[in-house]
Amino acid sequence: MREVIAQVVDSGWWLLGPRTRSFCEAFAEYVGGGECIGVANGTDALELALRVVAADSRFGGGSEDGELPEVVLTANAGGYSTIACHLGGLLPVYVDIDADTLLLSIDAAVAATSSRTLAVVATHLYGGLVDVPALRRALDRAGRRHVAIIEDCAQAHGLRGRDGMAGSFGDLATFSFYPTKNLGAFGDGGAVLTRDADLAKAVRTLHQYGWSRKYAIDTPYGRNSRLDEIQAAVLHSLLPHLDGANAARVSILDAYADAAPAGVSVVRSPQGSVAHLAIVRTPARDALQAHMTANGVTTDIHYPILDCDQAGLAKLPFHVAPGDLPNSRAATQEILTLPCFPTMRKDEIAKVCDALASFKAA
Ligand SMILES: Cc1ncc(COP(=O)(O)O)c(C=O)c1O
Repeated sequence: MREVIAQVVDSGWWLLGPRTRSFCEAFAEYVGGGECIGVANGTDALELALRVVAADSRFGGGSEDGELPEVVLTANAGGYSTIACHLGGLLPVYVDIDADTLLLSIDAAVAATSSRTLAVVATHLYGGLVDVPALRRALDRAGRRHVAIIEDCAQAHGLRGRDGMAGSFGDLATFSFYPTKNLGAFGDGGAVLTRDADLAKAVRTLHQYGWSRKYAIDTPYGRNSRLDEIQAAVLHSLLPHLDGANAARVSILDAYADAAPAGVSVVRSPQGSVAHLAIVRTPARDALQAHMTANGVTTDIHYPILDCDQAGLAKLPFHVAPGDLPNSRAATQEILTLPCFPTMRKDEIAKVCDALASFKAA
């Protein structure tokens, strides 16, 4: 890492240079084609993706009477896409998750669409794969061809499914390269990927002030959101190791599945997984967390508060689909995140497995 960073420092070119270009080309090719635009972080990537969809007449039904265009999404994915909706002046419409995978329910998503729906955000949460081709088919069958699909791949770098890799299915895909991600930088970073040349051009324009050329602002709501040369060089050097690191994460999840005692299950995605997070589930979550802590294992909860319940967002406009979000609410009370990172040593994995296996729910 020091060598890679030193080369960038010595090159004297720290932004918008050859390293960002070549990483973006390599990453787009890895994911399955199209264009990759490097941005400052994954939340910016979501905001830019939503903004370009909102500005493109191919998407959305055209809102009337000052109604905000709507974005269908889940409430259990950490708030990032909700923040992006609000920044883009769009209305989040929360739908429930599948009870087993904790991923977006395709049926619920389609049922929540209307003529005002601009996009569905499909978050490949925890490194599990949403069946985006099935979502596309279901939307089309329901007469919602105008609804864009944005894949949030912040937890899904290198996630392969039957039909291709996460990020290659939707109209746009967004990535975060936050250091703990499956592909992580030396600070913040993100990217938007798309195979649509017009959308790619629109993202490129918005990520740099809305310029059509230097100092000429031809598009409103442009920003400064760029991946820098150091992050790009680091990411390019790590990309060849991504598949191996993902395999290591998946084997940790497998070990936890073998060790889990009665009453504790590992959350898995049958379509494919890169085990970004190792999530176990039990009605005795708080007792399990205390037990793991007592055995020297740090845990966390991803995520403890649904987006629709966040105090700081309560005054902003949003809708919850009819019937509320029973699966999302139940999961939030029962999930626990165990340590999972590719450089975990065998003895560290064994320590977590032993602690997990020795848990007895009251
Ligand atoms: C699912 C998901 N989406 C979006 C983001 C936002 O990425 P960033 O932290 O780079 O803004 C994250 C990570 O933090 C994430 O986990």
